[in-house]
Amino acid sequence: MTLPSTTEADAATLMQNAPDSRPAPGTKQRVLSGMQPSADSLHLGNYLGALVNWVRMQEEYDAVFFIPDLHAITVPQDPAELAHRTRVTAAQYIAGGVDVDKCTLFVQSQVPEHAQLAWVLNCITGFGEASRMTQFKDKSLRHGSDQASVGLFTYPILQAADILLYQPQGVPVGEDQRQHVELSRDLAIRFNSRFGETFTVPEPFIQKESAKIYDLQNPVGKMSKSAESPNGLINLLDDPKITAKRIKSAVTDAETEIRFDRENKPGVSNLLTIYSGISGLPVEKIVADYEGKMYGHLKVDLAELVTEHLAPIRERAHEFLADPAELDKLLAHGADKAREIASATLRDVYARVGFLPYAGTQGSL
Ligand code: TYM
Repeated sequence: MTLPSTTEADAATLMQNAPDSRPAPGTKQRVLSGMQPSADSLHLGNYLGALVNWVRMQEEYDAVFFIPDLHAITVPQDPAELAHRTRVTAAQYIAGGVDVDKCTLFVQSQVPEHAQLAWVLNCITGFGEASRMTQFKDKSLRHGSDQASVGLFTYPILQAADILLYQPQGVPVGEDQRQHVELSRDLAIRFNSRFGETFTVPEPFIQKESAKIYDLQNPVGKMSKSAESPNGLINLLDDPKITAKRIKSAVTDAETEIRFDRENKPGVSNLLTIYSGISGLPVEKIVADYEGKMYGHLKVDLAELVTEHLAPIRERAHEFLADPAELDKLLAHGADKAREIASATLRDVYARVGFLPYAGTQGSL
């Protein structure tokens, strides 16, 4: 007896009926990016290396920005602190210029399709392939391999799901995230060739080396919330006095000449990059302006420039944080917008994989 192939017929209908989650032809290209809510404040590297660029991109692109809280729990988190940090991160995105009327802004855990697609992608990722991800190697070394969770291991696959759900053409990130975007490309190509054209293959939009910000105390290492000493870090929400002090005590070198030379003068070069990122002036112009002056002059001026620039961002972020209900509403609206795209992609994926269409009344899947 041959069984009627209702599953195939249903799947075919579903695929035809699934609204296309890709940007319509002739409309803006889509970009997507996110920053983890794993600190009480974003740092200057997140700001100059990512956020400033996002704010520019939302004018030109159909931009999707989110807060990857599912990623944050790949290492232990205090629940109340995580909730606070998620709001703090959202408040800083908006205070830094992300405009919820121009882009889609949401919290990852409020769009369940991320975890759902991640499972499907887990099942087409090789164990060896996942083992080669350098960020897992670094983090598991730092926390001890016995402490590393399976979530930390599959982190890049969740990141691939974040990306592929929205069919973006580009993923603006720093160099440190390149390998993860490459994995999303590989998984998109693999899925498309096994199950038919489903995902847009995204391009990494890697920020220029000039947007990379280094630790003020160890200017050959990138500025990072997990740095050994907090003195190398400029946090957006820190007290301006702390920020000024950290800039004034930044490590430089024994010479006196102010010039850009990443290799031989990493400390001064980092200060010049920050100056340029904040002021919008080219590095050459800054170097020319400081000809004959001492490092101290540059540090004092930079401290003032940075604290003045960050003051209104800090103030706005605190205003948003003072009204968490309003902030949560903005984020819920963003999650609703995001789900329209994400659920269309997931429906298509489920049908292609061979999952039965849901015929009940509890939502669409
Ligand atoms: P995260 O939270 O480590 O970093 C967020 C963004 O900030 C950039 N960045 C820097 N840029 C310049 N100088 C620095 N010192 C510096 N430090 C960080 C990072 O390159 C990044 O662009 N896995 C991601 C979060 C994520 C994601 C995604 C990103 C989850 N899903 C999907 C894009 C698409 C991460 O941990 O970024």
